[in-house]
Amino acid sequence: MEYDLMISNARIVGPDATQEGCILVKDGKIAAVSKEQGDFRAKEVIDAAGKYVLPGGVDVHVHFRDPGLTYKEDFSTGSMAAAAGGITTIFDMPNVQPPTLNVENFEIKKKIAEEKSYVNYGIYAYLVNNLDQITPLIEAGVCGFKWDLSTFDWELPEGWYLPDNNEAADIFREIAKHGYVVTVHAEDMELVKNYTEHLKETGRDQKDFLAHVEARPDIVELSALHRTFVLSEVSGCKVHITHLTSRRGLELIKEYQRRGIPVTSDVGPSWFTFCAEDYEKYGGGIRVIPAIRYQNDTDALWEGLACGDIEVMATDHAPHSNEEKFERSWWDTLPGTIGVQTSLPILLDRANKGEITLNRIVDCYASQPARIFGLYPRKGLIAPGADADITIVDMEKEWTVTHEEMYSKTKYTPYNGFQLKGKPVTTIVMGQVVMQDGKIVGQPGAGKLVNPKQDW
Ligand code: NCD
Ligand code: ZN
Ligand code: ZN
Repeated sequence: MEYDLMISNARIVGPDATQEGCILVKDGKIAAVSKEQGDFRAKEVIDAAGKYVLPGGVDVHVHFRDPGLTYKEDFSTGSMAAAAGGITTIFDMPNVQPPTLNVENFEIKKKIAEEKSYVNYGIYAYLVNNLDQITPLIEAGVCGFKWDLSTFDWELPEGWYLPDNNEAADIFREIAKHGYVVTVHAEDMELVKNYTEHLKETGRDQKDFLAHVEARPDIVELSALHRTFVLSEVSGCKVHITHLTSRRGLELIKEYQRRGIPVTSDVGPSWFTFCAEDYEKYGGGIRVIPAIRYQNDTDALWEGLACGDIEVMATDHAPHSNEEKFERSWWDTLPGTIGVQTSLPILLDRANKGEITLNRIVDCYASQPARIFGLYPRKGLIAPGADADITIVDMEKEWTVTHEEMYSKTKYTPYNGFQLKGKPVTTIVMGQVVMQDGKIVGQPGAGKLVNPKQDW
């Protein structure tokens, strides 16, 4: 039989081990993995000698801003950035216009992604006062639910709001019936408001960068974590804490895991790379929420990710315009920064420095997210029967990150000037090469919708 694609001389990296072999792809799936470089026939052959072959990255937290906020990013530019960064599946967040909180708005986003996306996409729905939408949204194909505790009700269309515990308990129970996951932005906004008002009273404002982290200290995260764990216990619902930011938060998660609460977490490069001392240099470039904290937290997050206490790396790719990032008062500067194109390279560089293993990179950026969100082993593993989502990396390549190289509409990256060793050189989505040597070569529409319900 003739295969569509063969990747020969591959050093195939899995979450636990690395093996030599030859990968054979047919109809968008991995048909076989052969230990021998046998006499196979294929339409296209990629010789991966000297490189490493990884399951494509699964990034469970990005904002592609489509529809409605496409002056910041859209599904085409965002997914090109993902492909350039070795990411083959993304989960897109619901804070778009109109927000993804019911089936009608889900269908609008799905159609856009179908036409524009170069990589596979999961579509989150908001967890708001939408109990009657939960099961229909799951049937329609969402990947999970986002409980964004940093949302103000005035940011939602009229009639929609963040539920109190009474209403939230029923929604969590409904989600638990299906075994789906609630992904949580853990900040207690009542406390943020309190801290912010007191800081403003003392005159802390323009360019007083530390006011950002002082307005959102780690206790704010702890409060929201406690609330989340209570609701998880009440309902039995699985919860995933996204963009974890504090040492104490990680300790609390571990404690609740020991007690049997089904909780996992992720961290993004912003929080394990930078710390409060860097605000002076980067200003709005690293203003994100929850806030980047102090060195002690940054260290705990990196150590937690490297050893697996924090199961997942997720970028929180959150583009804004230059005006929104750099031309407003410090309090009004919008939070978020891009990163889907640089996350895997940052990890590869750390592997070259001996700070993390390649196997653990595959684990935290492909296998674990796929497992937690019910896509494993269709995604997150190179094995027969899995989708042919594959990233080939050159661990020897030395390069410097530049704004210009970013595929995002928003070019500013705080990693500009970072000298890294290790880079994805080929990205394959469902058997199609979509990125080669940093250039997008695939077609929009290469990516497909993903969710835990699908047959494969
Ligand atoms: C995100 C955004 O811009 O949408 N910003 C951020 O700083 N993280 C929102 C979010 O993920 O909380
Ligand atoms: Zn968030
Ligand atoms: Zn986000």
